[in-house]
Amino acid sequence: MSILTSLPVQTEAGEQAVGAVPSLGAFEVADTRSVVVVNRAINDDYCHLVLEADGPALSARAGQFFNLACPNTAADMPYLRRPMSVYRVSPAQRRVEFLYKVAGAGTRGLATLQPGDTLAILGPLGNGFTLDPRWKNIVVAGRGVGLATLAPLAEAAAEAGIGVTAILSARAKSLVMSAERFERIGARIAVVTDEDGTSDFANVERHLVTYVEAGQADAFFTCGSNRLMLLMKRLAARFNIAGQVALEQQMACGLGMCFCCVRNFETTGGPEQRRVCVEGPVFDLAEALTW
Ligand SMILES: Cc1cc2nc3c(=O)[nH]c(=O)nc-3n(C[C@H](O)[C@H](O)[C@H](O)COP(=O)(O)OP(=O)(O)OC[C@H]3O[C@@H](n4cnc5c(N)ncnc54)[C@H](O)[C@@H]3O)c2cc1C
Ligand code: FES
Repeated sequence: MSILTSLPVQTEAGEQAVGAVPSLGAFEVADTRSVVVVNRAINDDYCHLVLEADGPALSARAGQFFNLACPNTAADMPYLRRPMSVYRVSPAQRRVEFLYKVAGAGTRGLATLQPGDTLAILGPLGNGFTLDPRWKNIVVAGRGVGLATLAPLAEAAAEAGIGVTAILSARAKSLVMSAERFERIGARIAVVTDEDGTSDFANVERHLVTYVEAGQADAFFTCGSNRLMLLMKRLAARFNIAGQVALEQQMACGLGMCFCCVRNFETTGGPEQRRVCVEGPVFDLAEALTW
């Protein structure tokens, strides 16, 4: 089975790579010993981690992820690695960036990292988003840290000459992620929040229908909210629009071997179970199911 041939092996892949897996799909994967450049809280919920890296890590694409070896602390020993979507990659500056929410042992460990510390990051892993050159306009809608996953997709779309309309959803305006990145590419933006009630399902549906009717939605993209996913899936089916969703699932290996990240999908051939780490994390919206 091809997954087994993708077990990490020690090969040369740049001076900072500690293990390379050249056979995992069409892209190269490495366990890279990155160096922390910046690690700081950007609001009450989220932290921004900037790493210096080398080798295959710098080829990560929107929607792909890394499995991070989060450090031990006095209180926690996060044995398994934790998956994080790539937030930004700058090959020229040799930087890989993540936005993370401190949720438990692993991310508490990440929050302790200081500039100059090292962090092993295995990746890039999984299948990222794809853009069809026939699309003229896409709609991305995400919530919370899901917007960190969608920001590089929006930039890739803009680079490809595809117009972007973005719905940025959060509990409060102060927690809206990555708005400046969507602004920079000239995206049409709607901010919806729980605090002012605009994230209400019916309101978001009104936005989406307006975009479809205005010809701004050749495809839907979403991440970070089961409710948003269900809404976009329903509207995509109603208006016959393509769609992709980046799913999250607790993981262990991140390489397809342990099967702990399996989720259920509905396909034209019937129900299927797929591993989020290797068959995803980006999936056809029409086939995705909630947890
Ligand atoms: C492909 C992928 C990309 C991700 N990208 C990001 C990202 O860019 N930024 C970010 O902050 N988080 C992201 N996550 C979620 C992140 O992996 C988890 O928050 C993290 O593993 C939690 O680890 P922990 O040890 O801090 O918390 P734990 O103690 O392991 O868990 C704390 C709480 O979070 C829940 N949880 C743990 N892992 C996940 C998960 N994978 N998905 C959903 N809930 C989970 C647990 O059930 C528990 O309630 C991503 C997950 C996946 C699968
Ligand atoms: S995390 Fe091990 S198979 Fe997906």
